[in-house]
Amino acid sequence: MTHPEVFGEIDHPPRLLMGPGPINVHPRVLRAMSASVLGQFDPEFTTYMNQTMALYRQVFATRNRWTFLVDGTSRAAIEASLVSVLAPGDDVVVLNAGRFGLLLAEIAARCEARVTLVEAPWGEVIAPEAVEAAVRRVRPRLVACVHGDTSTTMAQPIGDLGAICRASDALLYVDATATLAGMPVPTDDCGADIVTAGLQKCLGGPSGSAPITISDRAADHIFARRHIERGLAAGNGEGTGRRIGSNYFDLAMIMDYWSEKRLNHHTEAASMLYAARECARVVLEEGLEARFARHALAGAAVTAGVQAMGLAVYGDPDHKMTNVTGVIAPLGVDHDRVRARMREDFEIEIGSAFGQLAGRIWRIGAMGINARKHAVLTTLAALEAVLRGEGFAHVAGAGVDVALAVYAAGAP
Ligand SMILES: Cc1ncc(COP(=O)(O)O)c(C=O)c1O
Repeated sequence: MTHPEVFGEIDHPPRLLMGPGPINVHPRVLRAMSASVLGQFDPEFTTYMNQTMALYRQVFATRNRWTFLVDGTSRAAIEASLVSVLAPGDDVVVLNAGRFGLLLAEIAARCEARVTLVEAPWGEVIAPEAVEAAVRRVRPRLVACVHGDTSTTMAQPIGDLGAICRASDALLYVDATATLAGMPVPTDDCGADIVTAGLQKCLGGPSGSAPITISDRAADHIFARRHIERGLAAGNGEGTGRRIGSNYFDLAMIMDYWSEKRLNHHTEAASMLYAARECARVVLEEGLEARFARHALAGAAVTAGVQAMGLAVYGDPDHKMTNVTGVIAPLGVDHDRVRARMREDFEIEIGSAFGQLAGRIWRIGAMGINARKHAVLTTLAALEAVLRGEGFAHVAGAGVDVALAVYAAGAP
């Protein structure tokens, strides 16, 4: 008897994911995810939770006690941060130079905060002086920015932002989804109060768990808004501030869950915690500096390779993310067909783009396990062949040769 509604087992050919994320998951992370699920209050599991906190303190370069995971994709931690800090009517200054800056503004607006944008055109970054002027004028509760905006491939300098915020008693939120463990994200040194990420980029895992770190002063503000669910035990220290406008993303309750209180908030996504823990172990065994250098070298090889093919790289070269490269599609070449042929003929995924860049650039990522010579060279070789097939004239092999030379020369 056949069961047409059952479909087939998932069984696609392995694909090389060279877009802006997700990327191929490290085999050790996949193995960790197959460990048996434990209950979230099992002492073995809470030990893993504490270890995960200790590991991510190192990854985030912070001493913050409150360093843990939010269940969900990167956006879960973004939303948890903004909804837990911002109450309706609060002022927030958002740095916007791409799709993910706009996402911060959108989420803040859904929190009914008053949003002031400090903006730069896509492909550029925002000068700290512009942020300082806005913060002095608005005196916001929070300043929110994206570190590496994958939509434009630009890395916003964040070194001065903490001091600017502290001078006006504002908190600083940084979305480091696309940079954590690939480019330096010095949480404490840049004075960030909340930094969030996801696993599916430089951390080398699948999407679905969002590491977060929170300074004591931000935690104090959030705990002042603590209102525990009525169905749970009372007497956990209610706050006087306005109740946080989301239950799932209530960081006060989530922090109570990750503390000795072990508040029964949600059922922890055990397999994702195993994944996040293993991602951090892989990162720290390699060492942060070595990992940043490996991503920088791969990014330099991609950049030099596509330029040698006669393609232009998108955006301000001085502020380019090392791990994702925007490549301008040449006139007369069908952007989508190139991506389709990369996938169909070579089993390689490269990224398209959003909004004003849709159909104009490809985004090539070299992250996590894919920030390696063979992945970069294979991608360039495939792109060269596809572009030749699409009628774009360039010297055969030029991109791969130059990328090989970058690797031979070593650190960029
Ligand atoms: C900079 C940045 N922030 C946030 C996100 C949203 O992440 P997720 O899709 O994991 O929710 C992304 C995803 O690409 C991103 O690149």
